[in-house]
Amino acid sequence: MDLEEIRKRAVEGIEKATTANEIAEVRIKCLGRKQGEITLALRALKDLPDAEKRKTGPLLQKLKAEIEAALVFREKELENAGRIIDITLPGEKTERGHLNLLTQTEDEIRRIFNSMNFSVIDGPEVEDEYHNFDALNIPAWHPAREMWDTFWLKPQKNNDKKRYLLRTHTSPMQIRYMEHHKPPFQIISVGRAFRYEATDATHEMDFSQVEGLMIGEDVSLANFKFVISEFFRQFFSDKEVEVRFRSSYFPFVEPGVEVDIRLDNSRWLEMGGAGMVHPNVLKSVGYNPENWQGFAFGFGVERLAIVRHKIPDIRLFRSQDLRFTKEF
Ligand code: FA5
Repeated sequence: MDLEEIRKRAVEGIEKATTANEIAEVRIKCLGRKQGEITLALRALKDLPDAEKRKTGPLLQKLKAEIEAALVFREKELENAGRIIDITLPGEKTERGHLNLLTQTEDEIRRIFNSMNFSVIDGPEVEDEYHNFDALNIPAWHPAREMWDTFWLKPQKNNDKKRYLLRTHTSPMQIRYMEHHKPPFQIISVGRAFRYEATDATHEMDFSQVEGLMIGEDVSLANFKFVISEFFRQFFSDKEVEVRFRSSYFPFVEPGVEVDIRLDNSRWLEMGGAGMVHPNVLKSVGYNPENWQGFAFGFGVERLAIVRHKIPDIRLFRSQDLRFTKEF
Protein backbone atom coordinates (compact mmCIF):
# COMPACT_ATOMS: atom_id res chain seq x y z
CA MET A 1 0.00 0.00 0.00
CA ASP A 2 1.61 3.27 -1.12
CA LEU A 3 0.73 5.99 1.37
CA GLU A 4 2.77 8.59 -0.47
CA GLU A 5 0.69 8.04 -3.57
CA ILE A 6 -2.54 8.49 -1.63
CA ARG A 7 -1.18 11.65 -0.02
CA LYS A 8 -0.09 13.08 -3.35
CA ARG A 9 -3.45 12.49 -4.97
CA ALA A 10 -5.29 14.02 -2.04
CA VAL A 11 -3.07 17.13 -1.93
CA GLU A 12 -3.44 17.66 -5.66
CA GLY A 13 -7.20 17.35 -5.45
CA ILE A 14 -7.42 19.77 -2.54
CA GLU A 15 -5.20 22.35 -4.20
CA LYS A 16 -7.13 22.22 -7.44
CA ALA A 17 -10.52 22.55 -5.80
CA THR A 18 -12.00 26.05 -6.21
CA THR A 19 -15.56 25.54 -4.97
CA ALA A 20 -17.24 23.98 -1.99
CA ASN A 21 -18.61 21.27 -4.27
CA GLU A 22 -15.16 20.31 -5.48
CA ILE A 23 -13.94 20.10 -1.92
CA ALA A 24 -16.86 17.81 -1.13
CA GLU A 25 -15.87 15.59 -4.07
CA VAL A 26 -12.26 15.29 -2.85
CA ARG A 27 -13.53 14.52 0.60
CA ILE A 28 -15.68 11.66 -0.71
CA LYS A 29 -12.84 10.35 -2.87
CA CYS A 30 -10.42 10.21 0.07
CA LEU A 31 -12.56 9.69 3.14
CA GLY A 32 -15.91 8.50 1.77
CA ARG A 33 -17.44 5.79 3.91
CA LYS A 34 -17.76 3.23 1.12
CA GLN A 35 -15.14 3.87 -1.56
CA GLY A 36 -12.83 6.47 0.00
CA GLU A 37 -9.18 5.64 -0.63
CA ILE A 38 -8.25 5.99 3.02
CA THR A 39 -11.29 4.05 4.09
CA LEU A 40 -10.42 1.20 1.78
CA ALA A 41 -6.80 1.25 2.92
CA LEU A 42 -7.87 1.09 6.55
CA ARG A 43 -10.14 -1.79 5.75
CA ALA A 44 -7.34 -3.60 3.93
CA LEU A 45 -5.17 -3.43 7.05
CA LYS A 46 -6.73 -6.58 8.45
CA ASP A 47 -5.26 -8.71 5.64
CA LEU A 48 -1.74 -7.54 6.34
CA PRO A 49 0.74 -9.50 8.47
CA ASP A 50 0.80 -8.31 12.12
CA ALA A 51 4.14 -6.49 11.94
CA GLU A 52 3.01 -4.59 8.84
CA LYS A 53 -0.33 -3.77 10.48
CA ARG A 54 1.38 -2.21 13.49
CA LYS A 55 3.56 -0.08 11.25
CA THR A 56 1.04 1.05 8.67
CA GLY A 57 -2.01 1.47 10.94
CA PRO A 58 -0.82 4.57 12.81
CA LEU A 59 0.67 6.12 9.65
CA LEU A 60 -2.63 5.73 7.91
CA GLN A 61 -4.55 7.32 10.82
CA LYS A 62 -2.12 10.22 10.79
CA LEU A 63 -2.58 10.70 7.06
CA LYS A 64 -6.33 10.64 7.49
CA ALA A 65 -6.16 13.43 10.08
CA GLU A 66 -3.84 15.45 7.85
CA ILE A 67 -6.16 15.20 4.88
CA GLU A 68 -9.13 16.16 7.04
CA ALA A 69 -7.29 19.24 8.31
CA ALA A 70 -6.19 20.22 4.80
CA LEU A 71 -9.78 19.96 3.55
CA VAL A 72 -11.07 22.19 6.33
CA PHE A 73 -8.26 24.68 5.77
CA ARG A 74 -8.96 24.91 2.03
CA GLU A 75 -12.67 25.23 2.70
CA LYS A 76 -12.07 28.24 4.96
CA GLU A 77 -9.66 29.69 2.47
CA LEU A 78 -12.27 29.55 -0.28
CA GLU A 79 -14.92 30.93 2.02
CA ASN A 80 -12.75 33.93 2.89
CA ALA A 81 -11.77 34.53 -0.70
CA GLY A 82 -15.45 34.57 -1.55
CA ARG A 83 -16.10 37.11 1.16
CA ILE A 84 -13.47 39.46 -0.18
CA ILE A 85 -14.75 39.24 -3.70
CA ASP A 86 -18.46 39.44 -3.04
CA ILE A 87 -18.86 43.13 -2.38
CA THR A 88 -22.62 42.84 -2.50
CA LEU A 89 -22.81 40.99 0.82
CA PRO A 90 -23.99 43.18 3.72
CA GLY A 91 -21.11 44.37 5.92
CA GLU A 92 -20.41 42.79 9.27
CA LYS A 93 -20.97 45.21 12.12
CA THR A 94 -17.99 45.35 14.44
CA GLU A 95 -18.98 46.22 17.95
CA ARG A 96 -16.83 48.82 19.69
CA GLY A 97 -16.42 48.83 23.43
CA HIS A 98 -17.01 52.00 25.43
CA LEU A 99 -16.49 53.31 28.94
CA ASN A 100 -18.90 52.18 31.61
CA LEU A 101 -21.36 54.81 32.85
CA LEU A 102 -19.56 54.96 36.20
CA THR A 103 -16.24 55.80 34.54
CA GLN A 104 -17.94 58.33 32.28
CA THR A 105 -19.50 59.98 35.33
CA GLU A 106 -16.21 60.08 37.22
CA ASP A 107 -14.48 61.64 34.20
CA GLU A 108 -17.22 64.24 33.92
CA ILE A 109 -16.91 65.14 37.61
CA ARG A 110 -13.13 65.55 37.27
CA ARG A 111 -13.58 67.69 34.17
CA ILE A 112 -16.07 70.06 35.82
CA PHE A 113 -14.04 70.57 39.01
CA ASN A 114 -10.90 70.94 36.95
CA SER A 115 -12.59 73.76 35.06
CA MET A 116 -13.17 75.45 38.45
CA ASN A 117 -9.45 75.21 39.18
CA PHE A 118 -9.62 72.20 41.53
CA SER A 119 -6.67 69.79 41.32
CA VAL A 120 -7.47 66.09 41.06
CA ILE A 121 -5.64 63.70 43.39
CA ASP A 122 -5.67 59.94 43.89
CA GLY A 123 -5.00 57.67 46.82
CA PRO A 124 -5.12 54.16 48.25
CA GLU A 125 -8.28 52.08 48.64
CA VAL A 126 -6.62 50.06 51.41
CA GLU A 127 -6.26 52.56 54.24
CA ASP A 128 -4.93 52.56 57.76
CA GLU A 129 -7.13 53.28 60.72
CA TYR A 130 -5.38 56.60 61.37
CA HIS A 131 -6.24 58.20 58.01
CA ASN A 132 -9.74 56.74 57.74
CA PHE A 133 -10.78 57.56 61.31
CA ASP A 134 -8.42 59.02 63.96
CA ALA A 135 -7.07 61.98 61.98
CA LEU A 136 -10.64 62.79 60.99
CA ASN A 137 -11.54 63.33 64.64
CA ILE A 138 -13.04 59.85 65.03
CA PRO A 139 -11.02 58.11 67.77
CA ALA A 140 -11.58 54.40 68.45
CA TRP A 141 -14.02 55.06 71.30
CA HIS A 142 -16.13 57.48 69.28
CA PRO A 143 -19.70 56.25 68.71
CA ALA A 144 -19.60 57.87 65.24
CA ARG A 145 -17.42 54.97 64.08
CA GLU A 146 -20.64 53.05 63.87
CA MET A 147 -21.73 55.33 61.05
CA TRP A 148 -19.34 53.36 58.87
CA ASP A 149 -19.59 49.56 58.85
CA THR A 150 -16.03 48.66 58.14
CA PHE A 151 -14.27 45.87 56.26
CA TRP A 152 -11.23 45.34 58.48
CA LEU A 153 -8.23 43.57 56.96
CA LYS A 154 -6.11 40.85 58.55
CA PRO A 155 -2.63 42.12 59.53
CA GLN A 156 -0.01 41.06 56.97
CA LYS A 157 2.81 40.95 59.50
CA ASN A 158 2.54 40.03 63.16
CA ASN A 159 4.61 42.98 64.38
CA ASP A 160 2.56 45.53 62.41
CA LYS A 161 0.86 47.74 64.99
CA LYS A 162 -1.28 49.53 62.42
CA ARG A 163 -4.75 48.28 61.61
CA TYR A 164 -5.78 48.29 57.96
CA LEU A 165 -9.20 48.47 56.31
CA LEU A 166 -10.95 49.14 53.03
CA ARG A 167 -11.60 52.87 53.20
CA THR A 168 -15.19 53.54 54.18
CA HIS A 169 -15.16 56.96 52.50
CA THR A 170 -12.79 59.14 50.45
CA SER A 171 -12.29 61.57 53.37
CA PRO A 172 -8.84 60.09 54.28
CA MET A 173 -7.67 61.83 51.09
CA GLN A 174 -8.19 65.16 52.89
CA ILE A 175 -5.60 64.10 55.47
CA ARG A 176 -3.20 62.57 52.93
CA TYR A 177 -3.19 65.76 50.89
CA MET A 178 -2.89 68.18 53.83
CA GLU A 179 0.01 66.19 55.33
CA HIS A 180 2.15 67.15 52.37
CA HIS A 181 0.79 70.49 51.15
CA LYS A 182 0.40 74.01 52.44
CA PRO A 183 -2.79 76.04 51.93
CA PRO A 184 -4.35 77.73 50.11
CA PHE A 185 -5.56 75.03 47.70
CA GLN A 186 -8.63 73.29 46.35
CA ILE A 187 -8.68 69.61 45.44
CA ILE A 188 -11.02 66.75 44.65
CA SER A 189 -10.45 63.01 44.75
CA VAL A 190 -12.69 60.46 43.06
CA GLY A 191 -12.55 56.80 43.97
CA ARG A 192 -14.00 53.70 45.53
CA ALA A 193 -15.27 53.28 49.07
CA PHE A 194 -16.42 50.11 50.78
CA ARG A 195 -18.97 49.42 53.48
CA TYR A 196 -20.04 46.22 55.11
CA GLU A 197 -23.74 46.86 54.83
CA ALA A 198 -26.88 45.44 53.26
CA THR A 199 -27.50 46.57 49.70
CA ASP A 200 -30.70 48.06 48.32
CA ALA A 201 -31.74 50.33 45.46
CA THR A 202 -29.58 53.20 46.75
CA HIS A 203 -26.84 51.37 48.69
CA GLU A 204 -23.91 49.26 47.51
CA MET A 205 -21.06 47.65 49.44
CA ASP A 206 -18.60 48.84 46.84
CA PHE A 207 -19.40 52.32 45.55
CA SER A 208 -17.72 55.52 44.45
CA GLN A 209 -17.38 58.91 46.09
CA VAL A 210 -16.01 62.30 45.16
CA GLU A 211 -14.25 64.11 47.98
CA GLY A 212 -13.64 67.84 47.85
CA LEU A 213 -11.51 70.10 50.02
CA MET A 214 -10.87 73.82 49.79
CA ILE A 215 -8.72 75.59 52.38
CA GLY A 216 -7.77 79.25 52.54
CA GLU A 217 -7.75 82.20 54.90
CA ASP A 218 -11.44 82.98 54.60
CA VAL A 219 -13.07 80.11 52.70
CA SER A 220 -16.64 79.76 54.00
CA LEU A 221 -19.75 77.62 53.69
CA ALA A 222 -21.10 80.24 51.27
CA ASN A 223 -18.19 79.38 48.98
CA PHE A 224 -19.18 75.73 49.24
CA LYS A 225 -22.73 76.58 48.27
CA PHE A 226 -21.51 78.43 45.21
CA VAL A 227 -19.06 75.71 44.14
CA ILE A 228 -21.53 72.87 44.54
CA SER A 229 -24.35 74.79 42.80
CA GLU A 230 -22.03 75.54 39.88
CA PHE A 231 -21.06 71.86 39.79
CA PHE A 232 -24.72 70.77 39.73
CA ARG A 233 -25.50 73.34 37.01
CA GLN A 234 -22.81 71.88 34.76
CA PHE A 235 -23.36 68.24 35.71
CA PHE A 236 -27.10 68.41 35.07
CA SER A 237 -26.58 70.48 31.90
CA ASP A 238 -28.54 73.51 33.11
CA LYS A 239 -31.56 71.35 33.93
CA GLU A 240 -33.25 72.62 37.06
CA VAL A 241 -32.69 70.32 40.05
CA GLU A 242 -34.08 71.15 43.43
CA VAL A 243 -31.36 71.05 46.10
CA ARG A 244 -31.76 71.25 49.86
CA PHE A 245 -29.22 71.54 52.65
CA ARG A 246 -30.05 69.81 55.93
CA SER A 247 -28.02 70.40 59.03
CA SER A 248 -26.20 67.21 60.00
CA TYR A 249 -23.32 65.76 61.98
CA PHE A 250 -19.92 64.43 60.90
CA PRO A 251 -17.06 64.44 63.45
CA PHE A 252 -14.65 66.01 60.94
CA VAL A 253 -16.72 69.10 60.19
CA GLU A 254 -18.42 71.83 62.21
CA PRO A 255 -21.02 72.83 61.24
CA GLY A 256 -22.07 69.91 59.05
CA VAL A 257 -24.75 69.60 56.38
CA GLU A 258 -26.25 66.99 54.14
CA VAL A 259 -27.23 67.80 50.59
CA ASP A 260 -30.31 66.23 48.97
CA ILE A 261 -31.73 66.43 45.47
CA ARG A 262 -35.43 66.09 44.79
CA LEU A 263 -36.36 63.01 42.76
CA ASP A 264 -40.09 63.64 42.52
CA ASN A 265 -42.90 65.17 44.55
CA SER A 266 -42.51 62.91 47.52
CA ARG A 267 -38.88 61.76 47.44
CA TRP A 268 -35.47 63.30 48.06
CA LEU A 269 -32.18 61.45 47.54
CA GLU A 270 -29.16 62.18 49.70
CA MET A 271 -26.18 63.13 47.52
CA GLY A 272 -23.57 63.72 50.18
CA GLY A 273 -22.26 65.35 53.32
CA ALA A 274 -20.27 68.53 53.73
CA GLY A 275 -19.24 71.18 56.21
CA MET A 276 -16.48 73.42 57.54
CA VAL A 277 -13.35 71.40 58.32
CA HIS A 278 -13.17 70.78 62.07
CA PRO A 279 -10.31 72.56 63.92
CA ASN A 280 -9.14 69.18 65.30
CA VAL A 281 -8.65 67.91 61.75
CA LEU A 282 -6.61 70.99 60.83
CA LYS A 283 -4.52 70.48 63.99
CA SER A 284 -3.92 66.80 63.17
CA VAL A 285 -2.07 67.83 60.00
CA GLY A 286 -0.19 70.68 61.68
CA TYR A 287 -2.27 73.61 60.42
CA ASN A 288 -3.13 76.46 62.75
CA PRO A 289 -6.97 76.73 62.83
CA GLU A 290 -6.56 80.42 63.70
CA ASN A 291 -5.02 81.02 60.28
CA TRP A 292 -6.75 78.54 57.99
CA GLN A 293 -10.29 77.41 57.38
CA GLY A 294 -12.30 75.78 54.63
CA PHE A 295 -14.94 73.35 53.53
CA ALA A 296 -14.95 69.65 52.72
CA PHE A 297 -17.56 67.52 51.04
CA GLY A 298 -18.12 63.89 50.06
CA PHE A 299 -20.72 62.92 47.44
CA GLY A 300 -21.88 59.58 46.06
CA VAL A 301 -20.88 59.28 42.39
CA GLU A 302 -23.53 56.67 41.55
CA ARG A 303 -26.15 58.78 43.29
CA LEU A 304 -25.33 61.72 41.00
CA ALA A 305 -25.64 59.46 37.94
CA ILE A 306 -28.90 58.02 39.32
CA VAL A 307 -30.46 61.47 39.36
CA ARG A 308 -29.04 62.52 36.01
CA HIS A 309 -30.07 59.39 34.10
CA LYS A 310 -33.09 58.33 36.20
CA ILE A 311 -31.55 54.96 37.09
CA PRO A 312 -33.90 52.89 39.24
CA ASP A 313 -31.33 50.78 41.11
CA ILE A 314 -27.69 51.42 42.10
CA ARG A 315 -26.91 47.69 41.78
CA LEU A 316 -27.20 48.00 38.00
CA PHE A 317 -23.82 49.77 37.84
CA ARG A 318 -21.84 46.68 38.76
CA SER A 319 -24.33 44.06 37.54
CA GLN A 320 -22.46 43.55 34.22
CA ASP A 321 -25.88 43.50 32.60
CA LEU A 322 -25.14 44.33 28.96
CA ARG A 323 -28.54 45.93 28.45
CA PHE A 324 -27.52 48.53 31.05
CA THR A 325 -23.95 48.90 29.81
CA LYS A 326 -25.07 49.50 26.24
CA GLU A 327 -27.69 52.05 27.13
CA PHE A 328 -25.09 54.67 28.08
C1 FA5 B 1 -19.43 60.37 54.30
O1 FA5 B 1 -18.96 59.36 53.76
C2 FA5 B 1 -18.56 61.55 54.59
N1 FA5 B 1 -17.18 61.19 54.42
C3 FA5 B 1 -18.97 62.71 53.69
C4 FA5 B 1 -18.35 64.00 54.11
C5 FA5 B 1 -17.14 64.42 53.56
C6 FA5 B 1 -18.99 64.80 55.05
C7 FA5 B 1 -16.59 65.63 53.94
C8 FA5 B 1 -18.42 66.01 55.45
C9 FA5 B 1 -17.23 66.40 54.86
P1 FA5 B 1 -21.90 59.54 54.18
O2 FA5 B 1 -21.72 58.27 54.87
O3 FA5 B 1 -23.18 60.26 54.40
O4 FA5 B 1 -20.76 60.55 54.53
O5 FA5 B 1 -21.72 59.30 52.63
C10 FA5 B 1 -21.70 60.37 51.70
C11 FA5 B 1 -22.46 60.00 50.43
O6 FA5 B 1 -21.90 58.82 49.84
C12 FA5 B 1 -23.92 59.62 50.68
O7 FA5 B 1 -24.71 60.78 50.75
C13 FA5 B 1 -24.23 58.81 49.46
O8 FA5 B 1 -24.45 59.64 48.33
C14 FA5 B 1 -22.93 58.08 49.25
N2 FA5 B 1 -23.01 56.75 49.91
C15 FA5 B 1 -22.81 56.46 51.20
N3 FA5 B 1 -22.98 55.15 51.45
C16 FA5 B 1 -23.31 54.59 50.26
C17 FA5 B 1 -23.61 53.26 49.84
N4 FA5 B 1 -23.59 52.24 50.68
N5 FA5 B 1 -23.90 53.06 48.54
C18 FA5 B 1 -23.90 54.11 47.67
N6 FA5 B 1 -23.62 55.37 47.99
C19 FA5 B 1 -23.34 55.62 49.28
